[in-house]
Amino acid sequence: MIEVEGLTKYYGNYHALKGVTFSVRKGEILGFLGPNGAGKTTTMRILTCFFPPTSGKAKVAGFDVFEEPLEVRKRIGYLPENVPLYKDMTVEDYLNFAAGIKGVEGKKVKVAVAKAMDECVLTDVSYKFISELSKGYRQRVGLAQALVNDPEVLILDEPTIGLDPKQIIEIRKLIKNLAGRRTVILSTHILPEVSMTCQRVVIINDGRVVAVDTASASGVGEYIVEAIKGRDIRKEIAPCIVNKGWALLELKPQEMSLEDIFVKLVTKE
Ligand SMILES: Nc1ncnc2c1ncn2[C@@H]1O[C@H](COP(=O)(O)OP(=O)(O)O)[C@@H](O)[C@H]1O
Ligand SMILES: [Mg+2]
Repeated sequence: MIEVEGLTKYYGNYHALKGVTFSVRKGEILGFLGPNGAGKTTTMRILTCFFPPTSGKAKVAGFDVFEEPLEVRKRIGYLPENVPLYKDMTVEDYLNFAAGIKGVEGKKVKVAVAKAMDECVLTDVSYKFISELSKGYRQRVGLAQALVNDPEVLILDEPTIGLDPKQIIEIRKLIKNLAGRRTVILSTHILPEVSMTCQRVVIINDGRVVAVDTASASGVGEYIVEAIKGRDIRKEIAPCIVNKGWALLELKPQEMSLEDIFVKLVTKE
């Protein structure tokens, strides 16, 4: 559903993306994990046609983000890091407005807004001004505006940032329910977010993808060795040990938790 190949991005002389490649399958929730400054938002802005990369390619549902941005925008819902919500509008008015901007046809707006409010559990606060809402509810409004044109793909940039633990749990639950027929990329710098919400993870650091794996908390060590070295080094290590005349009972890849791997990949020690 999403194909990203060799994306690079310079901001002036600053090399923010250094060749980012990954893909997302239809219906998958992909975690895009990396520390602050890794290049997550930059990648997402390229995917949402906000600006072009310096080089590389990206496709959404088969459409090139630079050659066919209108086709791509139709299919994408985007929750930016800071959603520009109009605080003096009610939830419903704001979503009507968002639907209009996204090209939802006049007579379909009412149904589209009702559906987005239902999915994001906002129906009960539809008449409230956004200024009256808690941060957790505002984030739901942000999600609802991303959903209002019923996109196939959702791009969520750090959707739980700044929320309290209870709100975080609610938003995660909501995101999991939104997936299924939609394809989701969710960026985060928080590890447990990935294990709890996503099926697969792409770890990005300093403008590069450093690992791609399942998001389960164990059993990823073997693949990580391959990701770092580009090969399975067990075959090379085994003869060295045997040549020394040592008995080799078992050679097992180290089981690392997602946290171990993340820390290892994003720190220099
Ligand atoms: N508009 C910009 N101009 C210059 N540098 C930028 C700009 N936007 C981001 N950067 C830099 O690019 C790097 C990647 O940023 P970003 O994609 O926002 O990372 P993340 O979302 O992973 O925190 C950071 O070092 C950031 O300071
Ligand atoms: Mg960011």
